[in-house]
Amino acid sequence: MILIKNGRVVNPGGKEGKLDILIKDDKIAAVGKNIREKNARVIDAKGKTVAPGLIDMHCHLREPGREDEETIAQTSLAALKGGFTSICCMPNTNPPIDSPGTVKYILEKAKENRGGTVRIFPVGAITKGRKGEELAEISELKDAGVVALSDDGDSVMNALVMRRAFEYAKMFSLPIMSHCQDKQLSRNGVMNEGYNSTVLGITGMPAEAEEVIVYRDISLAAMTGGALHISHSSTRGTVEILKQAKRKKVNVSAEVTPHHLILTDDLVRGFDTSTKVNPPLRTRDDISALRKGLRDGTIDAIATDHAPHSQEEKDDDYRSAPFGMVGLETCLALILTEIVGEGVITLKSAVAKMTVNPARILGLKKGVIAPDQDADVVIFDTGAEWTIAPADFAGPCKNSPFIGRTVRGRVVTTIVGGRVLYSL
Ligand code: DOR
Ligand code: ZN
Repeated sequence: MILIKNGRVVNPGGKEGKLDILIKDDKIAAVGKNIREKNARVIDAKGKTVAPGLIDMHCHLREPGREDEETIAQTSLAALKGGFTSICCMPNTNPPIDSPGTVKYILEKAKENRGGTVRIFPVGAITKGRKGEELAEISELKDAGVVALSDDGDSVMNALVMRRAFEYAKMFSLPIMSHCQDKQLSRNGVMNEGYNSTVLGITGMPAEAEEVIVYRDISLAAMTGGALHISHSSTRGTVEILKQAKRKKVNVSAEVTPHHLILTDDLVRGFDTSTKVNPPLRTRDDISALRKGLRDGTIDAIATDHAPHSQEEKDDDYRSAPFGMVGLETCLALILTEIVGEGVITLKSAVAKMTVNPARILGLKKGVIAPDQDADVVIFDTGAEWTIAPADFAGPCKNSPFIGRTVRGRVVTTIVGGRVLYSL
């Protein structure tokens, strides 16, 4: 038994305030004032914030296929360090998550981690080999345990294939998480298309490459009645289209990453390849629209898009280096510092966007601290200041443009299923 005492409980889906939390086995047993239990191990959370374990709807495992970049055990530790107790992994592993075998492999591999692991919810591919041509065996993927479908990293460019995907996904109650990028419009692009790409003489990806697919997929979701989730929203236009769709009651939700909320393409001028990410860093104007969308509820969730890449590959020139940045370890601190700290949204809203909201979108019975719920809890110190350093990342890949930045807010304890799996 664990008794978490005197913390400030921020729990958008349940009881809040200065409360104690009692955990018995793997479940929450009680939430209330002055709970006494003499057999429990007490964790003193005085001065700390206690929240439901965070849920990352969007991250990338490198196992199977690129264990040199990050093993499942390392991604798990990265997540726990960041306060995440559940993560959804995208299907662009090698082999991809387009068959039940890969789903099973990932779930089994996670279990091998005897010290305990973050909960992993695989996202299955929409199409075989993520090629955008033929639908994957969606019913088998569902049986194997996927919680959503996506060809993340790639857009399904054939609208008819996407229509069928929505129709099948709906039969199996799976949301489709769409990576929106028209591949013809964005061809050869390695950064945002705009002033900076012109100055640098680098091919850009226009905002419209994202927006035309956002609009298409919203149309298809409306047409089929399927559930659509827009991954890593990055432009003002995307927010505007989403807002209109939500007004029309289309079944659509959206996420945004910390980097798209904080960094602009001005940073690319230094040619630091840790700023190379897909979708690319955009402009101040996009950031202000994304922040407004986050505040008014147009954007439901915050997700990391954690994507480790080896130093060797990132050391290539800007045109050839791979897209992606690590983010599990830094997400909460960045959001607390730059988004909550700047008054864009409240702490409670930030927690909702990393707990109850992703749980609702994915149909997971998670994200709330309440009796009989899984005992997944994070304790963090909103006042603790630290400077992000390479050693803070759990795996060998340190591809973060936030290294060197001082942030406020640090995870001190992460509990998954009643077990303390991380403490600072
Ligand atoms: O920046 C990105 N990295 N965007 C993606 O869509 C894929 C990801 C990766 O897996 O590296
Ligand atoms: Zn991704």
